[in-house]
Amino acid sequence: MRRLRKLVTGLFVSALTLAMGPLVLAAEVKHPQTLLQPAGPQAEILHEAISWDIAVITVIFIAVALLDAFIMVKFKRRNDEVPENQSHGNPRIEMLAWGTLILGMIIIALHPLHAESVFANTPKSDQTLKVDVTGHQWWWEIRYPDLGIVTGNEMHIPTGVPIEISTTSVDVIHAYGVPRLGGKNDSFPGRVTKFWIQADEPGVYQGQCFELCGASHARMLTRVIAHDPADFEAWVASRQNPQSAPVGPLAEQGQQIFMQYCAACHTIDGTGAKGTIGPDLTALGTRTSIGGGILEMNQENLTAWISDPESVKPGQKTMPKFGSLSADQMTALTTYLLGLK
Ligand code: CUA
Repeated sequence: MRRLRKLVTGLFVSALTLAMGPLVLAAEVKHPQTLLQPAGPQAEILHEAISWDIAVITVIFIAVALLDAFIMVKFKRRNDEVPENQSHGNPRIEMLAWGTLILGMIIIALHPLHAESVFANTPKSDQTLKVDVTGHQWWWEIRYPDLGIVTGNEMHIPTGVPIEISTTSVDVIHAYGVPRLGGKNDSFPGRVTKFWIQADEPGVYQGQCFELCGASHARMLTRVIAHDPADFEAWVASRQNPQSAPVGPLAEQGQQIFMQYCAACHTIDGTGAKGTIGPDLTALGTRTSIGGGILEMNQENLTAWISDPESVKPGQKTMPKFGSLSADQMTALTTYLLGLK
């Protein structure tokens, strides 16, 4: 009975372990940050490396399990047998075992080594777009040095061209990454490191900070919005000539409130607001999220964020609470901000 139970348990564990690899590969995981649905050449290479490793490991597992089963049956001790003294080994078998192990490790490393070399070098292309990404506790500053555009948390890119990202940090170590577009990279204070991503198809790709960086690390998201090249050109043109003037009396009142309370820390192109402590808010009304990607952009959430940022992003110290503004003032302010296009 005990033997049967052992056999059943053994078979179950083996089957489960064996099923893991193919299950991981076959899984249609509907998650915005899955590596298993690559959306660019970089991510494709990473996916190939993972698939390769799982395939090789599955083959090794089957070989070892079969060998184990063979040894257990073939060399089973009979009742009347005296156990052999196994004080020293068999050099030939040991050499074979070590040789197989080393060869297996080399085979496993082939794909990841190739992936590593691809990640390290941005492909040479006239169309490579340069983007500077700076980590702050807890949001991302995104600059396009050749286009004169600055934004926060949301990176717009064209499809089909490599995006060379230079990343750094103003405070602690962060790590910028968008898994479906490939790779991630540490953002160190006082040092600039480079990597690249690329998207095949237009779409919104989510990423986040991948280095534990304080209380709101998990609330440090980013979105990459990939456009067809023509649409990207249109986005660049609109960002280079932003709509910054208030439209209507309510927005005019909102702009006055903004200049009084917010302009020391935030920039809005085309206005007197030139602060650099918080994110650049030019064309804020075109962004899809606020608070480092935590809240969807709408008037209600914008009001919640401005009234009490701490409740949205615990631990943040730079954005003060503006809960003392009256409801009318808040409506005017958010109407102005959402009108920035
Ligand atoms: Cu920034 Cu984690």
